[in-house]
Amino acid sequence: MNLSRIANKGTSAIKKYIPGKSVKEAQAELGIAEMIKLASNENAFGAAPSSVRSIRELADQIHVYPDSQSREIRFRLAEQLGVQAAEITTGNGADGVIYNLGMAVIDQGDEIIFPRITFPIYETISRVMRGIPVYSQMSDLHIDLADISRNIGERTKLVFLCNPNNPTGDALPPEEVKAFLQSVPDHVLVVLDEAYIDFTEGESRLDSVGIFRDGMSNLFILRSFSKIYGLAGLRFGYGIGDADLVALINLIKPPFDVSILAEQAAIEALEDREFVHSTVEGCSEEKRYFYEQLDKLGLQYIRSHTNFILIDTGQDAQEVFQALLLQGIIVRAATLYSLPNHIRVTIGQHAQNERFFEALREVLTI
Ligand SMILES: Cc1ncc(COP(=O)(O)O)c(C=O)c1O
Repeated sequence: MNLSRIANKGTSAIKKYIPGKSVKEAQAELGIAEMIKLASNENAFGAAPSSVRSIRELADQIHVYPDSQSREIRFRLAEQLGVQAAEITTGNGADGVIYNLGMAVIDQGDEIIFPRITFPIYETISRVMRGIPVYSQMSDLHIDLADISRNIGERTKLVFLCNPNNPTGDALPPEEVKAFLQSVPDHVLVVLDEAYIDFTEGESRLDSVGIFRDGMSNLFILRSFSKIYGLAGLRFGYGIGDADLVALINLIKPPFDVSILAEQAAIEALEDREFVHSTVEGCSEEKRYFYEQLDKLGLQYIRSHTNFILIDTGQDAQEVFQALLLQGIIVRAATLYSLPNHIRVTIGQHAQNERFFEALREVLTI
């Protein structure tokens, strides 16, 4: 078969997304029984117990198709957020929503702006749809909103803005984001990816839904249940946007991309304020531990508004990643993000974080 004749031409420049190494994969490669995975920004505290219970209870219904419109979770989300259910679209994780949105709106030749260092899936879907990626510059490791504005032109269709940003963990000052959003011309849709927003505390947190409610119809807010609610393995995400845009996305998206298990677990998770609170508290406490330890080691890092930290190891990150792996710790080398010396480490439970630092101390003295 001549693949180059068959393949969608948009796929030719796509860099393969390399997910965090799984525990099983690392165990099979290295034969180490006890591995700790701090590589994919999963919730270190598990999932809400009521979500887990609901899945067990639904086990005898999995032969039935789910509600293709995910009505119940959309109504509950709408109520909690103060928007209309018709302004919410659901998907197979936030990734699924990004794909659904991309398929619904990107035409060949459209310019799609995103920061040079950010979540790579924006570029993948842009290329699949034969859009033209336009990279905005970083200012140090922060997203430069002024440079995004400079890049907006007649052919711009979308701007992807990840706040807090992955892989940096940095959140932009809310007033700056608000001013930026107000300055974006109407013909440009801004996708504000808030996969980590629940880890962003106090004054650093933008009221994006308030901006949408106040009438910014070219804003599309993206949220994930993988992080704060610990449902990464189930896959549930949603987007908030103009009702006409949501209807367009729903027209093309796979009808059953949210399973009955995912929807019910999400409904339960949404009610479990206690789990959310303890996750945020636990994560904040562990972040303080990270900062203390990193300061002692004299390593540079970015203060995080998420459940992970980007660390400058001052050495080849791929080598640090390999050496940590041999010690039973899986992190993420940020080479994928063109950061040759940085690793991205998910905040784990305290004992896991202690083991990470023991291993890191050993690796850095080699
Ligand atoms: C910034 C960002 N957006 C979206 C996603 C996708 O989340 P989901 O697991 O809901 O597909 C991730 C996952 O890591 C992410 O980091």
